[in-house]
Amino acid sequence: MTSNRWDDAYTRRARDEKWLARSVYKLQEIDNRFKLIKNGSRILDLCCYPGSWCQYALSKSGPGADVVGIDLKQPHQLSDSRFRFIQADVRSLETDRLAEEISPRDLIMSDLAPSTTGIWVVDESRSLALAGRAADIADVLLKTGGHFLCKAFEGEGLNQFKKEISGLFREVRLLRPKATRKRSREVYLIGCGRQERGTGRVHIGESRNSGFLQFCK
Ligand SMILES: C[S@@+](CC[C@H](N)C(=O)[O-])C[C@H]1O[C@@H](n2cnc3c(N)ncnc32)[C@H](O)[C@@H]1O
Repeated sequence: MTSNRWDDAYTRRARDEKWLARSVYKLQEIDNRFKLIKNGSRILDLCCYPGSWCQYALSKSGPGADVVGIDLKQPHQLSDSRFRFIQADVRSLETDRLAEEISPRDLIMSDLAPSTTGIWVVDESRSLALAGRAADIADVLLKTGGHFLCKAFEGEGLNQFKKEISGLFREVRLLRPKATRKRSREVYLIGCGRQERGTGRVHIGESRNSGFLQFCK
């Protein structure tokens, strides 16, 4: 990590502890609370650059780990035989093709952040569209009993989104980790225990633009 004007105690700590980004402390807090990562976990990180979440996942899941990262940018600093990277835009990724490439996952995590405009409704809608895309991928690739972790911006659409994914999981919780910057409106949704397949399939379809999901019976 290099220094810049946004540096804070978490940034300095991440640099000292050799993590690739300060956001590792958000995942660490969530994982300590919800026990998402276990020995040998198979994990998909939908926006892995610069790589601190994958680093943490690899450190927690031991020699049998299988971590796949996707991002627009390649995390060159991350080198580990248990890690594979796919350079792609998650919005246009073909989920069924991805499912042919990688085995079902124990954990799918998304720290996806849109480029922000400062216009709140636009940023919220873009964030929810990315979160919806992550949920769509999780619907196909998450094992029964697996977990889902996803960033979204606070706003009117968030409760709706939470409600819409709740059919997929035993429980859906919201958490704002301590390492979240004060001015940020991001929160994390944690979908614990993916229900048996067919319980409530999600698809984005036309809702990709609005960011809302629809359930198909
Ligand atoms: C907050 S960073 C992720 C940090 C990561 N969790 C870590 O700890 O290193 C958000 C990432 O989302 C990626 N991203 C944004 N939109 C994307 C898209 N449509 N497809 C793939 N990656 C995207 C960006 O390239 C950026 O690296």
